[in-house]
Amino acid sequence: MSKIVKATNLKKTYYSGVETPVIRGIDLEVEEGEFVAILGESGSGKSTLLYLLSGIEKADEGEVELLGKRLSSVSDAEMSALRRNGFSFVYQFDNLIENLTAEENIYLPLRLDKKNVAEYKEKFDELVGYLLISHCVKRLPKQLSGGEQQRVALARALITDPKIIFLDEPTGSLDAKMGQQVMDLLKDINENRKVALVMVTHSKAHADYATRQVYISDGAVCDKAD
Ligand SMILES: Nc1ncnc2c1ncn2[C@@H]1O[C@H](COP(=O)(O)OP(=O)(O)OP(=O)(O)O)[C@@H](O)[C@H]1O
Ligand SMILES: [Mg+2]
Repeated sequence: MSKIVKATNLKKTYYSGVETPVIRGIDLEVEEGEFVAILGESGSGKSTLLYLLSGIEKADEGEVELLGKRLSSVSDAEMSALRRNGFSFVYQFDNLIENLTAEENIYLPLRLDKKNVAEYKEKFDELVGYLLISHCVKRLPKQLSGGEQQRVALARALITDPKIIFLDEPTGSLDAKMGQQVMDLLKDINENRKVALVMVTHSKAHADYATRQVYISDGAVCDKAD
């Protein structure tokens, strides 16, 4: 199997008055089609790690190779292409563009990539049906519940058929039943469409859906949860 993510000795410090080392030398590899869960206490650096792996933030030290591209030396055009075709990101907060309807949000990555959205209608219907958001796709994000917004963000991440999806607590605002349903969908996508997933979660039960679990403590990979 080939490696889809290869991160070596990643380090990141934030400066906000005081220096806060947040990621302190992380190595992480993800194989094609793997499903990795990232666990750790609040503030341990999980979101920051996802930002570094996906190129949303730049590491101070170390290197990330994502889909064969070294993120430290990738051009803006290559990075845009990666974002449109290679990977998707589901954020922990503020997922959607507020002046676009749910439907427009879901189609946005295709429009940015100048795809003919009409060709994706069947896929769109399948995704919104599975995620139980068919009833609200014409609404703006502020007219949706938190859980509905999260599911719209998932649909948007899935519509482009990415090779890998980074998900930051995708079930954080869902109730138990919907959380399980989203996890079943993710498992299905991972197993049947071979999409690699790197998912941050606080739920041990949801982490059990993954093929591998990585624990983060104080900005470093550790052996086990406390
Ligand atoms: N832009 C920033 N400037 C300064 N410090 C930051 C910044 N972003 C995050 N931090 C700090 O970095 C640390 C790690 O933050 P991060 O968001 O990665 O944690 P997390 O593991 O995702 O936590 P949670 O489970 O609460 O989402 C925290 O101590 C946080 O306060
Ligand atoms: Mg976080």
